[in-house]
Amino acid sequence: MRIDPFGLERWFAEYEHEADIMLAESGVRSLSADRFDIDPGELGYVIPTDGDPALRGTIGERYGRGTDEVVCTSGTQEANFLAFLSVLAGDSPPGLSSSTSGDAHAVVVTPTYQALHAVPDAFGDVTRVPLEPPTWELDPDAVAEAIRRETRLIVLNNPNNPTGRYHPLETVETLYDLAADNDAYLLCDEVYRLLADDPLPPVAGMGPHGLSTTSLSKSYGLAGLRFGWLAGDRAVVEAACQWKDYTTISPGIFGQHVAEQALEQSDTILEQNRELVARNHEITVAFLERHGLEWYDPVGVNGFVTVPDGFESGKEFCRTVLEAESVVLAPGEFFGHSDRFRIGFGLPTDELEEGLARIGQVLEG
Ligand SMILES: Cc1ncc(COP(=O)(O)O)c(C=O)c1O
Repeated sequence: MRIDPFGLERWFAEYEHEADIMLAESGVRSLSADRFDIDPGELGYVIPTDGDPALRGTIGERYGRGTDEVVCTSGTQEANFLAFLSVLAGDSPPGLSSSTSGDAHAVVVTPTYQALHAVPDAFGDVTRVPLEPPTWELDPDAVAEAIRRETRLIVLNNPNNPTGRYHPLETVETLYDLAADNDAYLLCDEVYRLLADDPLPPVAGMGPHGLSTTSLSKSYGLAGLRFGWLAGDRAVVEAACQWKDYTTISPGIFGQHVAEQALEQSDTILEQNRELVARNHEITVAFLERHGLEWYDPVGVNGFVTVPDGFESGKEFCRTVLEAESVVLAPGEFFGHSDRFRIGFGLPTDELEEGLARIGQVLEG
């Protein structure tokens, strides 16, 4: 078993710390800790280790699911990881009647966040179904064609990172039906879902074959909490809990303590964040128009922009902007599209404006 290095994380590790402006962060600007009570009392493990039952109950209600159908994790990253381990790593997938011979197979809609194909690729076999520019529309027939007898998972990220494409309910339901008809799960990473003005119902609420993962990192602006969850079939959640005993044991106690408050303040926080996103979106659109750059108008705070004329590739452009203006962007190479770069416009508006002005200097230079 081998895993590919996480290209974008390594890029950030190299440049983010020293740079002036981070214009590649994929979430909304971080909230300050001082708006929450940050004293959880005793600093033990979260007990039970899959998360406070009352909190899991509250989260479960979002999906029409019970307390035992939710496991709290260290971010969406761990939730996805545990889901992949649970469904792909064993001889027979929990909760499904099929047992497979040969490598467990996953169908993954790409481009997407690297973890969503690299991890299943390490445990099993992956077929990618490409979204094509400029609209990044998802063709359910292509997903259907990619399904095999060994397929246990269809993996979707909606709204999508990096393109900002929000696949409509009808498409997601078709994918759900494909999963159900083929005795597989549809896993949807919904970490950007609550940034949509009109969020779709989550996949874990569609029926027994739906698994949803998410966290408070992106839509709430609380990445430092490292608090997320997996919701879905009880057998998958139980298998995830067994694997979690070997990963993080429990989520962090500070994360859970603040997550409880953040979920109580959901409406206020999300409204503030959506306002910021709408304002920043307008500013970014105006900037792109001014410089003749194109994107698919995104839901969320990530846009996948065409590389400006005069630059060979996303990497070349992003390196130039970094060296000349100390602004971090994300090269499209990390998503398999070297003619693009990803911009994250969820940061405080004054920082966004400063970052765009600096990119403008490079373009006009
Ligand atoms: C689609 C997607 N899933 C998961 C993550 C990781 O999120 P978390 O902070 O919740 O672990 C990211 C981060 O960029 C992401 O874009």
